[in-house]
Amino acid sequence: MRIVLVGPPGAGKGTQAARLAEKLRVPHISTGDLFRANISRQTELGKLAKSYMDAGNLVPDEVTIGMAKDRMGQPDAEKGFLLDGFPRTVSQAEALDELLRAEDIKLDAVLDLEAPEEEIVRRIAGRRTCRNDSAHVFHVTYSPPEKEGVCDVCGGELYQRDDDTEETVRKRLEVYHTQTEPIIDYYRAQGLLVTISALGPVEEITQRALSALKRED
Ligand code: AP5
Ligand code: ZN
Repeated sequence: MRIVLVGPPGAGKGTQAARLAEKLRVPHISTGDLFRANISRQTELGKLAKSYMDAGNLVPDEVTIGMAKDRMGQPDAEKGFLLDGFPRTVSQAEALDELLRAEDIKLDAVLDLEAPEEEIVRRIAGRRTCRNDSAHVFHVTYSPPEKEGVCDVCGGELYQRDDDTEETVRKRLEVYHTQTEPIIDYYRAQGLLVTISALGPVEEITQRALSALKRED
């Protein structure tokens, strides 16, 4: 399956993507995680991305599209993938379409996770992320780790992302409305859009997503 996950920051895309990717047996490709891995390795790409991310802005399209294409070109993505946080602008969506056309493949669905703003702010304010792998995500009250400050998955240190400050979250939401929401209409017009509520327990949302994708588990 080839799926794109969209939704505002903090809606739970990363949380659901990890679970859905496992159930659907496709790699979870998150451009945010790829940027954060580059930041921790202190690569040139990481240095460039960090300045945009910390301000709550999008990393420029050329850079993001190049990185996403490289990742999608790896062998594990041949049979399918779950894209989390990409595309995020209409030009990224067009670049993805071009890539898919060149490979003669199609998306199966675009899953849109809906959540109200006050819930987004609560989720982001309490989020704790693993220093070793930003796909290991916890929440101080909604999904606390067994041991405070320590990742259950790998034992790494948990921290609060630099872009999770209240001011940056507000900026990220504004960027989402102006630059990312237009892709929802873009995919609706292609008949690919599937919208579900991102409210409720994590497992319930996974089941909701699977049945919306017609793959009940
Ligand atoms: P990215 O990492 O993609 O961030 P985002 O879209 O802002 O999304 P988040 O990671 O904040 O949230 P999420 O929806 O994954 O929620 P999560 O599962 O963690 O991007 C970061 C930055 O990178 C961007 O601002 C941009 O600068 C750059 N970037 C990335 N992609 C780009 C692109 N394509 N183009 C240009 N720039 C790009 O959940 C949030 C919290 O809620 C967690 O604590 C979790 O435990 C909790 N939670 C999850 N589900 C539930 C639930 N059901 N109930 C209660 N709590 C829950
Ligand atoms: Zn970890």
